[in-house]
Amino acid sequence: MESFEKANAILAEIINAAPGNADELEQFRIKYLGTKGVLKELFGAMGTLPNERKKEYGQLMNSLKTAAEGKLETLKELYAGSKTKATQMPDLTAPAYTLPLGTRHPLSVIRNKMVEIFSRIGFAVAEGPEIEDDWHNFTALNLPQDHPARDMQDTFFLTEDKNLMLRTHTSSVQIRVMENEKPPMRYVFPGRVFRNETITARAHCTFHQVEGLYIDEDVSFADLKQTMLYFAQEMFGRNVEVRFRPSFFPFTEPSAEIDISCFVCGGKGCPVCKYSGWVEIGGCGMVDPAVMDNCKIDTKKYSGFAFGMGIERITMLKYQINDLRLFFENDVRFLQQFDSAL
Ligand code: PHE
Repeated sequence: MESFEKANAILAEIINAAPGNADELEQFRIKYLGTKGVLKELFGAMGTLPNERKKEYGQLMNSLKTAAEGKLETLKELYAGSKTKATQMPDLTAPAYTLPLGTRHPLSVIRNKMVEIFSRIGFAVAEGPEIEDDWHNFTALNLPQDHPARDMQDTFFLTEDKNLMLRTHTSSVQIRVMENEKPPMRYVFPGRVFRNETITARAHCTFHQVEGLYIDEDVSFADLKQTMLYFAQEMFGRNVEVRFRPSFFPFTEPSAEIDISCFVCGGKGCPVCKYSGWVEIGGCGMVDPAVMDNCKIDTKKYSGFAFGMGIERITMLKYQINDLRLFFENDVRFLQQFDSAL
């Protein structure tokens, strides 16, 4: 059919047309879309067609029209812009847009700070798996099967035989290091730990610790006290004092709970220290010789101390945060309040 062939040829012509400036574009418009234009003429041919082909022809005409109008619109914008090119040049000297930057999570801020404080006195970082076996999480740490102290740590077991579990403390990494290295060794062990506890403002089923281990000849409790004092003062301020309360851990002997004088009220009593003047920051002690034996370290020659602190606890004290759950909610309004440059 002659009209179809013609219309298809015109469609190809429109698609291939490349008016190069505003004047050429105007000629394009007049030629195809003008009142006496090509499309008008082609539309006119509709009347000469048999009824059954009219629909098809109408569709073809529509695509011609869309093609021509589309090209016109796009190029119109382009060439309108180019007329005022000089004034629309971007100002290349303008400062760049700043993108909003995220902030470090408060727990990361404090963990980094803790690791950095200990690194200054020679502690290196060691890490281990979050899924542990009974030996590294319990038995080697002097907690044999059925020892009542295992109840202190509600464990998420992963197998029926209770041989695999989510580690309940990073002390498991102490065992891994003691098994694989020779003294002297001085390490901190930052990491996530898991305990089957009800989630409240003060407890969670997952939290983070930094534990530490120092084994060498002649390491004494005095070294432990001085190390804890150094840490407390670097973290909370030069005026902070430390206090050791006798305690029990199966893997240390003697064992102690470490308190610091309240850095908020200076020991006078305030809500942070619950009016006692002291706040607890962790546990510690001299490594039990039985633990060293388990790792084949000569207890006649070497002694050592270990300590463990909760990162959440230190962070809550440092920033006076009263609900542990905030750390895991990932609300940016909370997260962005902490300075990553502490
Ligand atoms: N592993 C102990 C805990 O998670 C902390 C600790 C570590 C205590 C080292 C003493 C010595 O509770």
